[in-house]
Amino acid sequence: MDLGQIEKEAENSISLVKNTSDLEKWRIKYLGRKSALSLFFNSLSKLSLVGKKKQGQKANTIRQFLSSLYKEKKIDIESNASFSSDFIDITQPGEKMRQGHLHPLTLILRDITNSFQKMGFSIIEGPEIETEYYNFDALNIPAGHPAREMWDTLWIKPEHKNQKSKMLLRTHTSPMQVRFMETHQPPFRIIVPGKCFRYEATDASHEIQFHQIEGLMVGENISLSNFKAIIEEVVEDIFKQKVLVRFRPSYFPFVSPGVEVDIKMKSKIKGQKSKVKDEWLEIMGAGIVHPDLFKRAGYANNRWQGFAFGLGVERIAMIKYRIDDIRLFFSPDVRFLEQF
Ligand code: FA5
Repeated sequence: MDLGQIEKEAENSISLVKNTSDLEKWRIKYLGRKSALSLFFNSLSKLSLVGKKKQGQKANTIRQFLSSLYKEKKIDIESNASFSSDFIDITQPGEKMRQGHLHPLTLILRDITNSFQKMGFSIIEGPEIETEYYNFDALNIPAGHPAREMWDTLWIKPEHKNQKSKMLLRTHTSPMQVRFMETHQPPFRIIVPGKCFRYEATDASHEIQFHQIEGLMVGENISLSNFKAIIEEVVEDIFKQKVLVRFRPSYFPFVSPGVEVDIKMKSKIKGQKSKVKDEWLEIMGAGIVHPDLFKRAGYANNRWQGFAFGLGVERIAMIKYRIDDIRLFFSPDVRFLEQF
């Protein structure tokens, strides 16, 4: 076997190797167990001691040379590969970045507050932890009044026995009517978005935590017709279509008269079941501000009139986004959130 010939052939052929798979083939051919060189080593046992030493040294030198050729080539190929992985082909289409988005309740809150802002309403915020006075008494709902039954309350344990006013999680945003009027003189128009809490069993349309937007407009000669005109404008802006609005008589101790407001779509909401078009849906309680509240605020007798309303935000979102269970808003189910 001509070892010199094998060495030359191996040296020539490695210069043609360009990738790791060809290099592996080269290694198997010239350094593998079945390579000519390995077979030569196996055959050394048949030689005399002197022959073994001479031929063995020669074959060893060739093997070391071929191994060093192999290592050099491997480094060469790997460094080229890492160079090419650093290379950015700017003509390739990019990978789409996964992006988060706003929660549907944030979207609807923004829609509604923007609509009212367009009509000159200012946005006010109030405390979620309230006193019994502002949540009930100041709204003509003293202890023992049957209307307290309308709001199942989450009471906060008093810090000490002599605490003057009991504390609670507000059951509605209406306490802000009183707080605002205590410190502001008419005319004004405000909305108060915020969280409310009720101690009630949850179902598809009731949660223990939900959002309301309170509205209060006080001025001279303000009537329910002004309220109806504003609400019609706002709901059409939110639903982007003609909406019918109707009032039904209702009772809230802090307004007189009190109404419940229902809406009905004039045409089908895109992709929505026809049922929604045909049904009247209740969206809020409202009414003309009771004179007792003006008296408490120290407003001049009979000079001012106003309307107030309390709108259920989840209710509007459910109609607009076709959601049939209110509990989904606070569930961590990303399949629900991904629809928006
Ligand atoms: C009130 O809370 C009154 N403060 C509204 C009001 C304000 C009347 C100003 C007059 C003047 P009511 O309890 O009906 O009213 O609640 C108003 C809206 O809040 C409801 O129409 C409904 O959309 C929403 N709502 C009430 N309870 C829940 C609940 N448990 N889960 C989700 N939304 C609710």
